[in-house]
Amino acid sequence: MNKIINIIRKGKLVAFCGAGISSESGIPTFRGKGGLWEKYDPYLFAAQDSFNNLLLTNPFSLRDFIVDIYKTILLAKPNHAHSSLAHLENIGLLIGIITQNIDNLHHEAGNKEVAEIHGNAYVFLCKKCGYKTKKKKEEIENFIYNIKKENRKNKLIRKLLSFIGTCPRCDDRLESGVVFFGQELPSKEIEKSYQYINQSLTMLCIGTSAEVYPAASLPYYAKEKGLKIININPMINRLDEIADFSIHEKAVDFFKEIMTYFATDTYKNL
Ligand code: OAD
Repeated sequence: MNKIINIIRKGKLVAFCGAGISSESGIPTFRGKGGLWEKYDPYLFAAQDSFNNLLLTNPFSLRDFIVDIYKTILLAKPNHAHSSLAHLENIGLLIGIITQNIDNLHHEAGNKEVAEIHGNAYVFLCKKCGYKTKKKKEEIENFIYNIKKENRKNKLIRKLLSFIGTCPRCDDRLESGVVFFGQELPSKEIEKSYQYINQSLTMLCIGTSAEVYPAASLPYYAKEKGLKIININPMINRLDEIADFSIHEKAVDFFKEIMTYFATDTYKNL
């Protein structure tokens, strides 16, 4: 652990995060036991074409999926791993976070430099004019309340599911800013990700299976650029093959162990 603390102390860190960092905030991961994809087939629910098809053929299953995702996200609060990353950015050691998570918890923890490569559950876009808006929690809660209470009519639930609001600029329909399987990743977020990596010396990979591309190519790019890779995950995974250090612990436990060395007072006196 001393070696890792010394590496972190040098700064120029970039974090690459996945669902595991939010699991201790109560949001289930996607893969593995109890994961979201155990209950829902990702090829049906998370690919754009089949999602649209489900809206026509089985809108109530789609409704249940959306409710399941949002009910945990709306309740979740940043945990010690999130707040540690915010602290590391505050004291100038962390350049930025690249996250596959859509839960907004890095922003809630206080991080400013965040590349959300799979989008954000609170962000909605107008495909016609490019308008982008971040909805308040209460607005999403309202939407969830409305879709939850409709239990009978296919036509009504279809209408509710496809309507989160209209664009204030061109009046077209707003759509979710979350990235579906097979869709391109948002170019600005990808640009930011490469900028963070290109300025960094070390990548902390936290709570990701690194199974979903193109996101999963980023740690390999970082390795090629000569960054040290520290993989934090209670399970063995493919990133162990390129990791300089593998810590098989939960993210919160890892940060509890190291953050005493980076408490503001101690750190200022180093
Ligand atoms: P996964 O569900 O694939 O992997 C979560 C990882 O977190 C696993 O490797 C777990 O071992 C690890 N983990 C679990 N609890 C942890 C803890 N307390 N601390 C640290 N690690 C823990 O989630 P992602 O890698 O994020 O994409 O999945 C990537 C993408 O696949 C998601 O963004 C999503 C999904 O399909 C889209 O929807 C486009």
